[in-house]
Amino acid sequence: MPSAFDRGGECETLKVTLTDAASGLEAELLYGVFAGQDVITRAARLINRGTDTLELKKAASMCLDLPSGNWDMIHFHGRHVMERQLERAHLITGVQSVLSRRGSSSHQQNPFVILCESNATEDFGGCYGMMLAYSGSHRTDVEVDQQGSVRAVMGMNDDLFSWKLEPGESFDTPEVLLTFTDNGLTHLSQTYHRFLRGNMIRSKFGTVRRPILINNWEATYFRFNTEKILSIARQARELGVEMLVLDDGWFGKRNDDNAGLGDWYVNESKLPGGLAPLIGAINEMGMKFGIWVEPEMVNEDSDLYRSHPDWVLTVPGRKPAVSRNQLVLDLSRKDVVDWLYETLAGLLRSYHIEYIKWDMNRNLADVYSRLLPSDRQGEVLHRYVLGLYDLLERLTSEFPDVLIEGCSGGGGRFDAAMLAYCPQIWCSDDSDAIERLTIQYGTSFGYPVSAVGAHVSAVPNHQTGRSTPLGVRGVVAMAGTFGYELDPGKLSEEEKEQIRVQITRFDEYYDLIQNGDYYRLGHWQDNGYYTAWQMVSSDQDEVLVSVVTVRPRPNLGPLCLKLKGLESDGIYETVRTEVFGSPVLRGISGNTEKRRFTGAALMYGGFVLPFLFCDYVGVQICLRRTERSVPV
Ligand code: GLA
Repeated sequence: MPSAFDRGGECETLKVTLTDAASGLEAELLYGVFAGQDVITRAARLINRGTDTLELKKAASMCLDLPSGNWDMIHFHGRHVMERQLERAHLITGVQSVLSRRGSSSHQQNPFVILCESNATEDFGGCYGMMLAYSGSHRTDVEVDQQGSVRAVMGMNDDLFSWKLEPGESFDTPEVLLTFTDNGLTHLSQTYHRFLRGNMIRSKFGTVRRPILINNWEATYFRFNTEKILSIARQARELGVEMLVLDDGWFGKRNDDNAGLGDWYVNESKLPGGLAPLIGAINEMGMKFGIWVEPEMVNEDSDLYRSHPDWVLTVPGRKPAVSRNQLVLDLSRKDVVDWLYETLAGLLRSYHIEYIKWDMNRNLADVYSRLLPSDRQGEVLHRYVLGLYDLLERLTSEFPDVLIEGCSGGGGRFDAAMLAYCPQIWCSDDSDAIERLTIQYGTSFGYPVSAVGAHVSAVPNHQTGRSTPLGVRGVVAMAGTFGYELDPGKLSEEEKEQIRVQITRFDEYYDLIQNGDYYRLGHWQDNGYYTAWQMVSSDQDEVLVSVVTVRPRPNLGPLCLKLKGLESDGIYETVRTEVFGSPVLRGISGNTEKRRFTGAALMYGGFVLPFLFCDYVGVQICLRRTERSVPV
């Protein structure tokens, strides 16, 4: 099971052993204390010390009691193309649950819950965070009892769950990452960001620079051939893009989403000669090559399904529910996981593939495994998740140099456990910059910017039909891993030039964006006008402020952005101010006039922005500390 790791003597584990003499069940409650980081991990190991078979009906990971206080609950709900929408409500008497029954951590309710004091803000107040490191069905129950005491219980969902524990056997629950701060939500988020980056993401790409990619999905969907992909790669290379990712449609009879899933050999009618010449040509351009796979799924119209219909989750005698025309492979079976491992490892051994986009495009239904007896079917959902982790573990061990980006119809499996294998996860299939403001805002409460897959796509946007300026799309995608998902052949010369500059900027800001401290400065759903965020390097020397407006507001006073996390007495100088999407403010864009402020002036007075005329204006302000303190 993926869990937090110790980077060298920073964690102590407390084990509390409870024994139930009547049943013979022993529970080891495991507390991993990362004192320097303000994080405690909690999990349980259940051991059958008796002589009879036991059946687990529920196996939560954590129980937290808050005997007094006045609490709000924050959680992150959503749907496809609208993930992690923040909801905050005062706790009411009774039980409130945040859960998924879908076999994955889900678009609908993320396994991350915050209990904060009702007056807590970004900068003030007590906040408890609970994040489950698990990618399957989960459940958090927050109960307020008759005296106002709060009990939170978090873990795997017990719905459809049961597990036979034979004498001597043990069962491990997933881990919860817990934190507390008295300093508000920003501090809570920063704790999670640091912890996930440093103690959860195992891939070397947690620290090694990742390439700027172009993905062909929104440029071509299923309609492409070698020539088209090479032309996208060539033009993207000229703009400075470093990797071409070939998305869905390169394998089997995959000409639309009705067929081909499971047949992980090349579709030669689109790519004659196979992958080798394509990858060779892309590598010759000086670009890396990445590829899309959806290993957990199968179409009925596939050679894999025709030869192994029993490898699929289906209930005997019942017609299975298909979703996106696909069925789910039974990853609770070792033979299926072994086959997937050999198939994927075969691809990685045969071709120079440096990145995988690992997709998972439907939820689990008809949860029945042909290999388990009927009284063990309650184990299938969890065994599926264990099979997935086993597969990822084996692949990442054999191919540590391959970067894996997680994906599930966008951000439907965005959780701490997937981050253990995939240092980045495609945040949403909604690539509209304005919608992304809210999705990325919600995501930022628990997950670091370095994990957020974000691309600049074409306009009108394919999910919303909205047109936003290219510069604004760049500002939003830079609050993530940054890349492109469009056809460069359709760009004007002016747009190409803008992209060259975007890439140079992202390169320059890379460390700050990926590893800096993240501050939310405001969100349009609260202020009706703009979303703003800020990155500050850990030494407080470098600062990047980003602002995007969602509608023009006439005759408004100046927008005065109060920055955060600076040294009060330090002197900060503007390196550059750029404004995108407002022709009347062009003069300000690219302004490199050095303006000097104390940190205190920026934090308590604020950075005053000009009237941001036009729809959808984006601003990036880069500042650098030039003096550490002001002589009195
Ligand atoms: C999912 C992903 C998309 C794309 C398609 C391909 O929806 O989220 O980015 O890869 O699948 O079918």
